[in-house]
Amino acid sequence: MTFKIPFSGRAHAFTEEEIAVMVEAAREAVPLTQGRYLQAFETAFRGYAGVEHAFALCNATAALEIAAQLCRFQPGDEVIIPSHTFTASAYPFAKKGAKLVWSDIDPATRVVTAEGIAACITPRTKAIVVVHLYGFGADMPAIMALAEVHGLLVIEDTAQALGVEIDGRRAGSFGHFGVFSFHSHKNITTLGEGGMLAVRDPAVAAIVPMLRHNGHCAFPGERDDYWVPAMGNVDLPELDGEPLMPNNYCLGEVECAVGAKLLERSDAMNAEKRDRALRVIDALAGYPELAFHRVDDARHNYHLLVARVGNGWRDRFIRTMAREHGIQCVVQYYPLNRYPLYRKLGFGEAACPHADDFFDNMVSLPFHHALADDQLAVVVEAAGRTIEALRAEG
Ligand SMILES: Cc1ncc(COP(=O)(O)O)c(C=O)c1O
Repeated sequence: MTFKIPFSGRAHAFTEEEIAVMVEAAREAVPLTQGRYLQAFETAFRGYAGVEHAFALCNATAALEIAAQLCRFQPGDEVIIPSHTFTASAYPFAKKGAKLVWSDIDPATRVVTAEGIAACITPRTKAIVVVHLYGFGADMPAIMALAEVHGLLVIEDTAQALGVEIDGRRAGSFGHFGVFSFHSHKNITTLGEGGMLAVRDPAVAAIVPMLRHNGHCAFPGERDDYWVPAMGNVDLPELDGEPLMPNNYCLGEVECAVGAKLLERSDAMNAEKRDRALRVIDALAGYPELAFHRVDDARHNYHLLVARVGNGWRDRFIRTMAREHGIQCVVQYYPLNRYPLYRKLGFGEAACPHADDFFDNMVSLPFHHALADDQLAVVVEAAGRTIEALRAEG
């Protein structure tokens, strides 16, 4: 089926200035990875996100893998994760040996709460993954207070919430780890793939470059001959005397160059998306069958624009939008416990009625940054007409 307005796999366009930055980096960068553009991107990101230590990586999944590795799970340790999120929020923790425990979402905000997480804590809980899903910042002050009482590590999956502010602080800067994505769909993209890992503890941050890049590090002390005993050293990253195996999760220089440049307009893009989301939500206020989450400040960047469709009309809504209006709506974030991958790993059970209800009734409208205003007006008009048609059918 071809659509007049597809749900795009690409969030935004690049300006000529951004393209010039990429071209310049492609011409000038030596080497094409692990060079000055990486340093510049990480420096700019630290300032933007309000974090002390940040490491650019090939994607957010790699960042979650390193965060999971640094949790140093022992057999039986549990990690609490929302069932309603993208799969990469979860499987890195199973891969590093943790037992996944699913937490429910709040039906109004569609993210986890301190109360919901508290209900999942056991004596074996070691960590909590908080996902700022759809671009809405979860209540981090309350979640951090809870984590402190129980001595838990907190990983903020900020893949969708770059630039979001919670009580005046950026999402991703509260937890022990903050994870960001620059994938094609995301708020800003470093040419399709890219990620960032923010680390709070300086001792933990110190070993991330080795974990990211094959265990490469300097030889201790001065050397008389730069090639003796070898050109570069490889050592075993250790934390509190515990060895951790390295990875190769580096991000290339051209991607870093454009990432640093894009940060300059990240806040403006977020503000534009929020403005447009509020226009859509307000224009559809006469259709309460579409329940949006309306937030008119920097706590939401409206990475995605989702609604719960009432009366059990979700599938009919999507079908009518597609067939009558040529608009591709989608559904997102199948509760992870329902996927074969998690069932086969023994994580098929969850007590998450709100996540189940939301997924089973939700719709995500086409809402990428590059969508023109007149196309968005067509989406709004079609959504209203679709609800009217469904009302008429009864
Ligand atoms: C909530 C969430 N977490 C993690 C990821 C993984 O990001 P990446 O594709 O950069 O690995 C994504 C996006 O794809 C996501 O939406």
